Amino acid sequence: MSSSYRACIRGLGFYVPEKVLTNYDLEKMVDTTDEWIQTRTGIKERRIAAKNTPASELGAHAAQAALKDAGMSAADIDLILVATITPDMFFPSTACSVQNRIGAKCGAFDLAAACSGFPYALSVAEAYIKAGLYKNVLVIGSEVLSGFIDWKDRSTCVLFGDGAGAAVVCRSEQEGHGILASYLGADGSQGGILQIPGGGSVHPPCPESLEAGLHFLKMEGSEVFKVAVRTMEVAVREVLKPEGLSLDDVDWLVPHQANSRILQAVAERLKFPEEKVVTNVARYGNMSSASTVVALTEAVHDGKIKKGDYVVLVAFGGGLTWASTLIKW
Ligand code: ACO
Repeated sequence: MSSSYRACIRGLGFYVPEKVLTNYDLEKMVDTTDEWIQTRTGIKERRIAAKNTPASELGAHAAQAALKDAGMSAADIDLILVATITPDMFFPSTACSVQNRIGAKCGAFDLAAACSGFPYALSVAEAYIKAGLYKNVLVIGSEVLSGFIDWKDRSTCVLFGDGAGAAVVCRSEQEGHGILASYLGADGSQGGILQIPGGGSVHPPCPESLEAGLHFLKMEGSEVFKVAVRTMEVAVREVLKPEGLSLDDVDWLVPHQANSRILQAVAERLKFPEEKVVTNVARYGNMSSASTVVALTEAVHDGKIKKGDYVVLVAFGGGLTWASTLIKW
């Protein structure tokens, strides 16, 4: 899309619940070990929200932090997008609840692309800004996955955590900076390998669906692993093409934080130095749509990512979906 407007991230913020659940805590809940979890996933601990905490609560905290970082207020925001697979409820949207919580007066809607939700939502914000429709868009990834995990299933319960991240994306006329390209992919034919099957129109909530545990996240881990590595490699290569950049130009890769072995495998396939891959999976586990934006926020606030750096965000998730964003910081 060619226009004189650029979309730039002006502020970033995140929020994670205080409660830490370590691998040792999990050893007391299911038949697992810290050693198994760390060697298979790289995860040491994750944050868990208090029971029945709405995703909008975490999202609003992250939004307020991002607005502060941008030096802006809720009144400046023209649109709120929330990426989530753990919404407060079917409707109203989580974005509307965030709007109310932060006191904004603007359009608001949710977007479902699972763990790819943040780069997907960023591409929507980019498009609105480039089209000249909005100036300031708040993009949030927020998840309370702990409410949708079967805490008796060791193959999934060790992987996930709760948290939220937010970015204030603003119109800028500075040539060559900001979001330079977005790339989106999906393959609905493989939706069954990663899903929460119950609660929707296929299996509306009923005693039988609850009894069968259809409201819990289900995953064919090793299948997801293979697709994740393949699609993230493609997404990184594709997003560089519009600007004619190569992997040597990229200063930081900020991937979805599902599993450190996936990140190592992606770096290996891209022949990209592992030390330039931002990782925080050890501390938070997989926070789905919040993962990429929380990792980006930490890398910027820690001073790793500096002005002028080329940054690639990349994610994959249920759908299946995959997505990437090229940013000149
Ligand atoms: N502790 C101990 N043993 C376990 C555990 C556990 N927590 N979980 C599984 N095992 C056992 C299995 O039962 C199996 O035992 P068996 O050989 O006797 O049958 C053995 O460990 C190996 O299981 P695998 O599934 O083959 O283990 P794998 O090496 O594939 O690792 C993992 C599993 C970590 C889930 C990996 O496949 C993975 O990371 N997949 C990708 C997950 C992912 O990225 N999901 C993100 C998407 S989420 C979203 O979009 C919302």
